[in-house]
Amino acid sequence: MTQPTASPPPGDADILLSATDVAVRFGGLKAVDGVSLDVRRGEIVGVIGPNGAGKTTFFQALSGFVRPTSGAVRFAGRRIDRLSPEDICRLGLTRTFQIVEVFPSLTVRETLTAAALVRLPLAAARAAAEEAAAQVRLSAKLDLTCRQLTLPDQKALEIGKAVATGPQMILLDEVMAGLRPSEADEVVGLIRELRGRGITFVVVEHIMDVIMRLSDRIVVIGAGRKIDEGAPGDVVRNPKVIEIYLGEEFELA
Ligand SMILES: Nc1ncnc2c1ncn2[C@@H]1O[C@H](COP(=O)(O)OP(=O)(O)OP(=O)(O)O)[C@@H](O)[C@H]1O
Ligand SMILES: [Mg+2]
Repeated sequence: MTQPTASPPPGDADILLSATDVAVRFGGLKAVDGVSLDVRRGEIVGVIGPNGAGKTTFFQALSGFVRPTSGAVRFAGRRIDRLSPEDICRLGLTRTFQIVEVFPSLTVRETLTAAALVRLPLAAARAAAEEAAAQVRLSAKLDLTCRQLTLPDQKALEIGKAVATGPQMILLDEVMAGLRPSEADEVVGLIRELRGRGITFVVVEHIMDVIMRLSDRIVVIGAGRKIDEGAPGDVVRNPKVIEIYLGEEFELA
């Protein structure tokens, strides 16, 4: 069965993000029900689970968009669970949105500059926008409007908006949804490249094949709780995971 030791030991100095027993309640619904997660610097951690499992809500709680009902979130050693999303972003933790949000009439340059303004004055933000565009392979498209972009380029821009904030960690929420396999491969390559530049990732993705290849470690969430955590190859062999998430038709190669 899956080794519970896949999680870093407590007190590990390399831990960038540490969520302890995080719960989020919406009225009577426990959308997140006591989830703990430690993420080391430089890791790519995948988060999977069925629709409505609480993955997005967990991301909202980590990034300040929703205040946890209980539990603690620490980032780079600081308690962040009472901070605003802007303050958390300035500390270096940022997220993308499951529904891509851009202003169709803004250019790539304007969109990335606006994102960089969270931490920089205008002139520096403009420079950061060009740097972010280069990092997500959009340098040639800086002056196109968002509505002129192909879907894969819109996804790259969504990641670029996060990169422009100068993050240490990015939370990616289903950024590859709707892409063809070859396009998803491009985004996998891009995420790996950004990790090579020192950015740590936590990634929610439904495409099993993608999350398996991309992640160093996978966390499975079901009905607001952590069901399993471990190396990708171990997690998919856990009968409980197969039952709640993958379905009986899932066959291991
Ligand atoms: N703002 C909200 N108010 C009330 N209930 C909410 C709110 N946001 C989410 N929920 C509920 O919380 C639960 C978890 O939703 P969440 O969006 O976090 O799931 P998810 O794992 O991201 O699902 P998906 O894979 O479909 O994106 C669901 O039952 C959802 O309906
Ligand atoms: Mg979601």
